[in-house]
Amino acid sequence: MFVDLTGNMTRLTVLSVIVLLSLLHSCRGQLKIGFYKNRCPVAEDVVRSAVARAFASEPDVAPQLLRLHFHDCIVDGCDGSILINLPDGQQENKAFGHQGLRGFNVIDEAKAQLESQCPGVVSCADIVALAARDSVVLTKGLFYKVETGRLDGFSSSISHASNLPGEDEPIRALQNKFSAKGLSSKDLVLLSAAHTIGTTACFFMGVRLNNFQGTGRPDPSIAPPFLAKLQGICPSGGDVNVRLAMDDGSENAFDTRNFDNILARTAVLQSDAALLNHPTTRAFVEFYARSPDAFRKDFGISMVKLGRLGVLTGANGNIRKVCSMFN
Ligand code: HEM
Repeated sequence: MFVDLTGNMTRLTVLSVIVLLSLLHSCRGQLKIGFYKNRCPVAEDVVRSAVARAFASEPDVAPQLLRLHFHDCIVDGCDGSILINLPDGQQENKAFGHQGLRGFNVIDEAKAQLESQCPGVVSCADIVALAARDSVVLTKGLFYKVETGRLDGFSSSISHASNLPGEDEPIRALQNKFSAKGLSSKDLVLLSAAHTIGTTACFFMGVRLNNFQGTGRPDPSIAPPFLAKLQGICPSGGDVNVRLAMDDGSENAFDTRNFDNILARTAVLQSDAALLNHPTTRAFVEFYARSPDAFRKDFGISMVKLGRLGVLTGANGNIRKVCSMFN
């Protein structure tokens, strides 16, 4: 009987190459829960400890890190581009809408530890995604599993961040900007609810308090006693760096109070108040205000969706050694 050994060998070799290539591909970035389980088992613990340590001395890092993940993902995907500093200062994090971003030091700290324990394995984009989740948990939000395996990108440009959702934009514009990224009106409501923790600078209140839609007057939808309070904190011509809680009365707890505030017309940010201006977003605000458990669960689902935006794999990205610099 004739056996085609050469043919079998060729098929075997081709098969091995395919298996090898796909293995190589999966090592170079593929989103899944527990991506670092074998590659760097301490990865998630190291990030969690770095965030917890920072939070213990400065609770404000929780909202800072949560915001950082959104701002990383919404421009060119979750690729760590928000962390880059360039010699000419023309990097993404210098864009207008990124003003006030903080928490970079916590990411750098976690990265330094990971580089000493598992050099060249854990991406900066993943550290940001994990740190955001850990921040939610530290402020008493619900734990959700973070998919990992993102690679870090090769570019960071101020010009790519010129079209961020703005705090003074109407609901339609916010919906369109989210939808352009594959995020629904439900995601818009859930993710905006991240404003249940943290603060804004008066810088972002100017239009709402002084020149709403070019009228030269404050936003008429703000409940009058609350308007007086806001104007007291952020007077016209005052210091734009003064910060105020966005979820008035509950800014340190990850809860549904922000939805109550929106309904009571005591939301701080104009973009949060605007969620009442469309029947779909309004219905979600009303629903989540009375369904805290659903909110806690669904927030995690929308965060996972956010974390999938523009994830880099293969030759399109790498693992940075230092998060603020390209290798
Ligand atoms: C609708 C789109 C959004 C707009 C217009 C918006 C706008 C803003 C503004 C103006 C601030 C104040 C920044 C400062 O003064 O430092 C802020 C803070 C914050 N944002 Fe958003 N945001 C949006 C969506 C999101 C999303 C999707 C997340 C996260 C999932 C998020 C998380 C946060 C957090 C946690 C803070 C507090 C930061 C701190 O305390 O330092 N935001 N946002």
